[in-house]
Amino acid sequence: MKPIIWTESLSVGIDLIDEQHKTWISHYNKAAETLTTHHHPEQIIKTLEFLVDYTGTHFATEEKHMKANNYPHMAEHFSRHQELRETLSNLVTDFEEEGTTDDLSDYINTFLNNWLIEHIKTIDTKFASWAKENGVSIVDA
Ligand SMILES: [Fe+2]
Ligand SMILES: [Fe+2]
Repeated sequence: MKPIIWTESLSVGIDLIDEQHKTWISHYNKAAETLTTHHHPEQIIKTLEFLVDYTGTHFATEEKHMKANNYPHMAEHFSRHQELRETLSNLVTDFEEEGTTDDLSDYINTFLNNWLIEHIKTIDTKFASWAKENGVSIVDA
């Protein structure tokens, strides 16, 4: 398993969002680690649930600020979030039904790993740049 290490290359330039991304990544790393090292199923489910919950919290913060400021690309951004919410909830169901499978480990270690980095570097960065260009301040979660 390859943990995601937050570095400046993942900074979107807005402190609140960067701090949330760091927390999000640490939940991701924990879930991937428990799954890869075949922890007890209850432990795995707990870390997956923390990841799902925190994903919801983080997306809610971004979406609140996009809505409040009428961000022109919010429909696209919301739909990406929605896709991931659905995928994560299917993943929890799959784990509950089938336990740790190679598909699930691959999914977490490859697809989800890439998704988080890609989302932060492209779509979140696009929103953050827009916010800065338009003098929108994003300070409260
Ligand atoms: Fe984000
Ligand atoms: Fe986002």
